[in-house]
Amino acid sequence: MAGFAAVLAVLTAAAVVGSASARFVVEKSAVKVIRPEHIKGRHDAALANFGVPNYGGTMVGVVKYQVNSTACNAFDGEPFKTGASRRPAILLVDRGDQKLRQRSMLRHCTRRAWLIRYLLAPDCYFALKAWNAQQAGAAAVLVADNIDEPLLTMDNPEESQNTDYVDKINIPAALINREFGAALKKALAKRDELVIIKLDWRESMPHPDERVEYEFWTNSNDECGPRCDDQMSFVKNFKGHAQLLERGGFTQFTPRYITWFCPDAYLLSKQCKAQCINKGRYCAPDPEQDFSEGYDGKDVVIENLRQLCVHRVGNETGRPWVWWDFVTDFHVRCSMKNKSYSRDCAEEVNRCMGDPEADAENDVLKIEQEIQIGHGSRGDVTILPTLVINNIQYRGKLESKTVLKAICAGFKEATEPPVCLNQDMETNECLRSNGGCWQDPKSNITACKDTFRGRLCVCPVVNNVKYEGDGYIACKAVGPGRCAMDNGGCWTETKDKQTYSACLDSELTGCRCPNGFYGDGYKCEDIDECKEKLACNCPECQCKNKWGGYDCKCKGDLVYIKGEDTCIAKSNNASKFGWILSIIVISCVAGAGLAGYIFYKYRLRTYMDSEIMAIMSQYMPLDSHNNEIQSLRQESTAL
Ligand SMILES: *[C@@H]1O[C@H](CO)[C@@H](O)[C@H](O)[C@H]1NC(C)=O
Ligand SMILES: *[C@@H]1O[C@H](CO)[C@@H](O)[C@H](O)[C@H]1NC(C)=O
Ligand SMILES: *[C@@H]1O[C@H](CO)[C@@H](O)[C@H](O)[C@H]1NC(C)=O
Ligand SMILES: *[C@@H]1O[C@H](CO)[C@@H](O)[C@H](O)[C@H]1NC(C)=O
Repeated sequence: MAGFAAVLAVLTAAAVVGSASARFVVEKSAVKVIRPEHIKGRHDAALANFGVPNYGGTMVGVVKYQVNSTACNAFDGEPFKTGASRRPAILLVDRGDQKLRQRSMLRHCTRRAWLIRYLLAPDCYFALKAWNAQQAGAAAVLVADNIDEPLLTMDNPEESQNTDYVDKINIPAALINREFGAALKKALAKRDELVIIKLDWRESMPHPDERVEYEFWTNSNDECGPRCDDQMSFVKNFKGHAQLLERGGFTQFTPRYITWFCPDAYLLSKQCKAQCINKGRYCAPDPEQDFSEGYDGKDVVIENLRQLCVHRVGNETGRPWVWWDFVTDFHVRCSMKNKSYSRDCAEEVNRCMGDPEADAENDVLKIEQEIQIGHGSRGDVTILPTLVINNIQYRGKLESKTVLKAICAGFKEATEPPVCLNQDMETNECLRSNGGCWQDPKSNITACKDTFRGRLCVCPVVNNVKYEGDGYIACKAVGPGRCAMDNGGCWTETKDKQTYSACLDSELTGCRCPNGFYGDGYKCEDIDECKEKLACNCPECQCKNKWGGYDCKCKGDLVYIKGEDTCIAKSNNASKFGWILSIIVISCVAGAGLAGYIFYKYRLRTYMDSEIMAIMSQYMPLDSHNNEIQSLRQESTAL
């Protein structure tokens, strides 16, 4: 049965130049050794086709290694799990040494015979190592190659194995070369040596401008086992994001279809007739690999063509996103699995489809055939389904969030559309020690912001109040409303139900101690008006300092007149009422003057103090007082 499909050929760079294997590009990320000093440096790592590469981001972690561990067996418990405030563990595992075991491969949805060595480590699948590492609490896994060779891409296990775990791998996985692996192991072998590395995916995805171009390489055949199921669920889950991005003009999406052709020698064979259109020019493998039942390969090609035409017509009328509706609807209305497929099931008749029986090229499919050959930095498209983003072969699992993250990393920084900045895309780095950013201990207001690229330390805007600062050590509320947020960072204190504050809403920045206090506004202290002889100075006066003010009483029967700062005899003679009244009026007028005088006197005194201290400081170190002098100077200049 396999022979039916095997007749077909796919146009690749290999087919064109006649070499033995297709052009395959290994996509890489960087690994930088931060510690220890003597092996510091930058190395390449090859991204795996499974797991979640952190496109656009970085991860700093501690390397963990168990001697000769290939991680083919599950670890006991979670030995590599780290606490919230500790660096994540990056597990280094060995590829193993035994001779590569050959495995027979099924080839009906994908054509990856040459990938056999990319799939298997000697003992077990690469993906199983990653799964065991994840189960054991590792945040990422590096596989050290066992021989000296160029880096290769670790691939998914073949379908139909017992490999449900592959979809559940959500840590990054990469292969490093033998030499680099050996250097890490040597450093780790030293007792107490801490090896810290930084995995860096920022250059793994080009991000030249504010628009991302991406292609989804697919096939309308939905009956090819787990891979086709993955493809269907990806399309369904990603549709919402894809349409939003396309409508917003953020992306240019193009669906692509791998198309086979029938070699000349087989043109008249039953196989080619059933699997090809346009006289053997465009073919697809038969879904069931049986021509006597179900759908033929050529039904698949025609549906591919129809889907391409839906995109093309939609694109021409400014609605390229209709492709997503069409393909998702198609699976509901015309599922091949449900045997409900028919030629006019998808009723859109497209002039662009042309005549499948004609002995002629089809413009639409010809382009597909040519484009599947790699150009520039991209290799041939050999895996299905897959994505090409900004002309780079996407690595990692085919899952909505993971793919969106890769697309987001393709935007020039700060031009990402909103969908890239929502909570789903966060890396949760702020959960670890607040990402090293500023945080207000009282209100928990933080400068840490999780993004798909990793965390950013930027002073926040809270309740429309803006914070300014470096984001790491300090952020301060500025502008209108700032006093409502932690009192604008200024001093405030409450005693005996009385509150004083150094934050003035009428001023947009800075802090100033209120009347009755001295200090720089971040720390204010009560002025002792009595001791400083600023008020209540008359011989009969009894002065008592109060927090933020003072009380003045007179001896005996006398009454204190604040405005005059003096005591007068109390009189119960009603005829003297007018005189008292006039005193009160005068007092009120003079009071303001006296308050000003008191304040002036205080300022004069502190000014003189500061002058004296300034002179003294020329002769002796007064470091601990420097701040005070500074603030006093500021005050005196403010006068
Ligand atoms: C690890 O493997 C090497 C080479 O196979 C061997 O020489 C060494 O003894 C092994 N170490 C341990 C601890 O098993
Ligand atoms: C879709 O339209 C844009 C511009 O309108 C064009 O650049 C692009 O090549 C078109 N894509 C396809 C697949 O025709
Ligand atoms: C296939 O058929 C079943 C029952 O006949 C139905 O429940 C299901 O929704 C169909 N699936 C698709 C994709 O049409
Ligand atoms: C701040 O965070 C701590 C620890 O997470 C929590 O206990 C406290 O209630 C938080 N305070 C505020 C004001 O949210």
